[in-house]
Amino acid sequence: MGVWNAYGVGVCYYPEHWKKELWADDLCRMLANGIGTVRIGEFAWNLVEKSEGVFDYAFFDEFLDLCLEKGMKVIFGTPTATPPAWLTEKYPEVLNGREDGALFRHGGRRHYNYNSPVYLEKCRIIVEKEAERWGRHPAIVGWQIDNELNCEKDMFHSAADDAAFRVFLKKKYGTLDAVNAAWGTVFWNQTYTAWEEIHGPRLNAIGAQNPSLELDYRRFISESAIAFAALQAEILRRYIPEGVFITTNGIFGNLDSHRLTDTCLDVMCYDSYPNFAYGLDQAGKPWLDSQMHDRQWSLHLSEVRSISRHFGIMEQQAGAGGWYNRMEAPMPRPGQLGLWALQSVAHGADFVSFFRWRTSPIGTEIYWHGILDWDSRDNRRLREVHIFSENLKKLSPVFDSEIERCAGLLQDFDNQLDAAFDRWHDRAISVSRPGVFAACQHAHVPMDVVQLREKTRVEELLSYRVLFLPHAVILGEEAVELLHRYVTLGGTLVVGARTGYKDIQGRCPMAPMPGLLRGLTGTTVTESSFVAPDDMAKGREPVVDTGSGKLTFPVLFETLAAEEGTEVLGRYANGPFAGEAAICRKAVGDGCVIHVGGVLTEETARYLMNALNLSEPFADLFDLPETVEAVKRTRDGKDWYFLLNYLPEEAPVTFRRPFRELLSEKTVEGQVKMAPYGVMVLTDE
Ligand code: GAL
Repeated sequence: MGVWNAYGVGVCYYPEHWKKELWADDLCRMLANGIGTVRIGEFAWNLVEKSEGVFDYAFFDEFLDLCLEKGMKVIFGTPTATPPAWLTEKYPEVLNGREDGALFRHGGRRHYNYNSPVYLEKCRIIVEKEAERWGRHPAIVGWQIDNELNCEKDMFHSAADDAAFRVFLKKKYGTLDAVNAAWGTVFWNQTYTAWEEIHGPRLNAIGAQNPSLELDYRRFISESAIAFAALQAEILRRYIPEGVFITTNGIFGNLDSHRLTDTCLDVMCYDSYPNFAYGLDQAGKPWLDSQMHDRQWSLHLSEVRSISRHFGIMEQQAGAGGWYNRMEAPMPRPGQLGLWALQSVAHGADFVSFFRWRTSPIGTEIYWHGILDWDSRDNRRLREVHIFSENLKKLSPVFDSEIERCAGLLQDFDNQLDAAFDRWHDRAISVSRPGVFAACQHAHVPMDVVQLREKTRVEELLSYRVLFLPHAVILGEEAVELLHRYVTLGGTLVVGARTGYKDIQGRCPMAPMPGLLRGLTGTTVTESSFVAPDDMAKGREPVVDTGSGKLTFPVLFETLAAEEGTEVLGRYANGPFAGEAAICRKAVGDGCVIHVGGVLTEETARYLMNALNLSEPFADLFDLPETVEAVKRTRDGKDWYFLLNYLPEEAPVTFRRPFRELLSEKTVEGQVKMAPYGVMVLTDE
């Protein structure tokens, strides 16, 4: 069990944005609509420390006491995401900056760096003062550290970061010679002759860095963020009683959220804004196809689940999103707010807190709509929140149940970092990740994100029938050994193009590909390339014939030589490499490895899903259209099925036997039409 022992509903509230006369009424309306927790305080440093060293607790004393009186629980945020103007003006070294050294000034948020000794000290003081004052306040059930670590900016370029990076490197490598060797600085005469010559990524003539430096720098950023959070958590733990939890919110780049959580959190919370998905990608195209827009948030949720088996949603979208200078997405249509909140619950959230109670009439986020509009009148969104809170009560038997496992999408932190700056890697994984996800979704195959870590055990991997590791560009020996055991003991491993192209320092091994995995795959890459944009534009990508159909390989392709005992499942059917092997399978022990010499588009992942007999695992229970997501939960031999319809149209479903539907509290059988944006939760009669 996580930190909650029942489902809960919350909301983000900013008492500092409202006249005090509104507070009591707001809290009573929240409670009347099923909202039992407020998250407060995360941007309110000045309200507690108005000037350096001058503390005043009256504001939050009053608000917290009112919460206690009304029976409202509180999650209190430490205010370090928005350092005050008095601080940044006096100590500009606390600021983050750009690659060219220009500093990010006061006036936005997240303008600080994690390594300035002055900032660390100021944070230590404010967190300690707040913890000392309110750590044992009976209204407080949890603390949120900072707000969205590494959101807005996940790179740091201050002098304090450079200095701390050198310390990180000295600890890691010991000598400058070792750094030079690890990074291959002899290339382009980048050799360092004194520690002071080393900096994080800076503006240079080509807009590209030494890639091994870049990799280490991003690892360093992650360590810095974790140390920053750990500093706060250690202080909080000295003051809070047993049972009060520590969390933070969001998953962002250059931060190992698994390690962060292990190091200093009791539980991870996520901020879920599925309507971001209605935006455009960098090429100006809508993300994925139309019916996967908000549904793809299930992929993010499965990633959160890999961090905290049970987790909370600290910010669940409640209205249209946008700042005065950004138009992110339209409001949730009737039914969508509840659908998205139940999507979070289906995927393992125990606590769902909406962002925010009332839309702000002031500041940058005046158009980021909360549940209520500025006028504060009851509205449709509040009614939907109320319905959701009533629905959660009906779902109490599902609480703490397991999510069915079948397919795993394996990932690891080093490769996530690598893909953040290696364009080849990024282009491949940007297709394969949503490709595997969409294929699983459409074929109703339960899929988890599985994080490959030092402590990952083979037993955990073996709970998945198949693991997709699309592009393990960076590959270390320990991972290879673990994968070997997984396969030998019966697992099916699918790997894609560019597997094993780098060592853990980001250097390409002088060996045939797929590098360290070659012994396992039973293949050797004979040729590899990206697919020319011109060929992609004209539909001349490599085509692979699998015998049962044709697959297109965009972005990257490899031709494979199969060693004896390795079966060729697909061959190139066009172009200069026609006839060469493109997909190979090798039986190893009780399992097998499939090497796909390309990216895993939805089409290719779907082909694999069918070839491995994974598709439609619930076919004997019900017949679902592709457009409906299915999530299976189990506990003590009892099963529940969440069905989620993401479309504005009815979805036809056929039940092959009667089920009890928990939300309508009715029995369903035979042909049924799910409502637009409807959700059903089924269990045995
Ligand atoms: C989140 C953030 C909130 C609010 C919201 C809307 O990323 O945590 O504080 O800014 O976005 O912009």
